Amino acid sequence: MTPTAVTNARNGRTMHLPFGEKRDGPLFNQHILSVKQFSRQDLELIFGVANEMRMMVERVGSFDLLKGKVLAVLFYEPSTRTSSSFIAAIQRLGGSIIPINEVKYSSVAKGESLPDTIRTLEAYADVIVLRHPETGAAALAAQYARKPIINAGDGIGEHPTQALLDLFTILEERGKIDGATVTMLGDLKYGRTVHSLARLLSLYNIKLNYVSPPILQMPRELLDELNARGIPQREANALEEVLGETDVLYVTRVQKERFANLDEYESVKNSYVIAPETLARAKPDLVLMHPLPRVGEISEAVDRDPRAAYFRQVEYGMYVRMALLAMVLGKA
Ligand code: NCD
Repeated sequence: MTPTAVTNARNGRTMHLPFGEKRDGPLFNQHILSVKQFSRQDLELIFGVANEMRMMVERVGSFDLLKGKVLAVLFYEPSTRTSSSFIAAIQRLGGSIIPINEVKYSSVAKGESLPDTIRTLEAYADVIVLRHPETGAAALAAQYARKPIINAGDGIGEHPTQALLDLFTILEERGKIDGATVTMLGDLKYGRTVHSLARLLSLYNIKLNYVSPPILQMPRELLDELNARGIPQREANALEEVLGETDVLYVTRVQKERFANLDEYESVKNSYVIAPETLARAKPDLVLMHPLPRVGEISEAVDRDPRAAYFRQVEYGMYVRMALLAMVLGKA
C-alpha cells in the first residue's frame, strides 16, 4: 500500500499514514504545552472521549486502541499520580512505555541536554510526556521534537493535563462547570496546578476566589489576564470570608521545593488545615478537591465526607489521560 500524506490543518505538519487511514481532530499530532491552546469546544470533545474511556474501562478493563504505540515517560521531578496514570492510560489502551522516572539513572546524569534526550526518545516512542523543574521546559522540548510532547508540569509554570482532569472532575461531580464559585486555597504563587486551572476555568462562566498567605498570592500577570477576560476574582484574607458561597474548594500543598529560603517555607507551611469542622460550615454539595500529594492541608478525618472528591479526582485523571493519548495519536 502507498502511504498517504496527511497535513494537520492547525500546525501544518505532515504525516505519512498507511493508505486509507485518515486522522484529524483538534489534538491530532499536537503538543500539549499550556491550557491556553484549548477552546471550550476542544474541552467538550476531550471530556466526551474521557467519558467513553471510563465506560470502556468499566466494561472491559483494557482494549487495543493504541496497540503498538509507545509512550516515553520522562520525569525530572518526583511524581506518583501523573506518571502512573499516564502509564496506566497507555497500557489500558494496549500500548507500552519507556519509563525514565529516575533521570539520575539516565544519561541526563552525565550532563545530556534536554533537546538531545528528547531527540533520542522520539526515535523510539510515538509521544513523550515530560515533567521538568524549569518553566518553559516543555515548550523548549517541543521546538526540537517531531513527535508530540505532553507537558506534565514545568516548574511553577503549567500543568495542563492536571487542569483538564480537574475540570472533568468538576463536571462529573456537579454536572456542569458554568455557574460555579471556585475557591483556590494554599500556595497560589508556586502551584502550577492552580495556574493552569484558573486559566482553563476562565473559558466558563465562573467566579474565582483566592485564599493564600500574603507571600504566596496568585501571580499578578495571571490576575490581570483573567481580569481582561471579564472573570470575577476576589483575593480573600481568610477562608471564612468565602467558604459559604464556595461550590468547589481546591486545596493545594505549599510547594516546599520552590522556596529559596526554608525559613520562609516553615513560616507558611501550616497556614491552612481543612477539618470536619471546616466542612460543617460549607455547602452541602461542595466539591472538595486537591491535586495531591497532601501534606497536612486536609485532615484524614475529612476523607469519609462524601464531598471529599480528591480520590475520585485521581481516577478521573486516568480517563482524561487515556482520551488525550488517543486523540494526540489520532485514534479518537
Ligand atoms: C501536583 C504537581 O506536581 O504540580 N501534583 C500532581 O501532579 N498531582 C501538585 C503538587 O505537587 O503539589
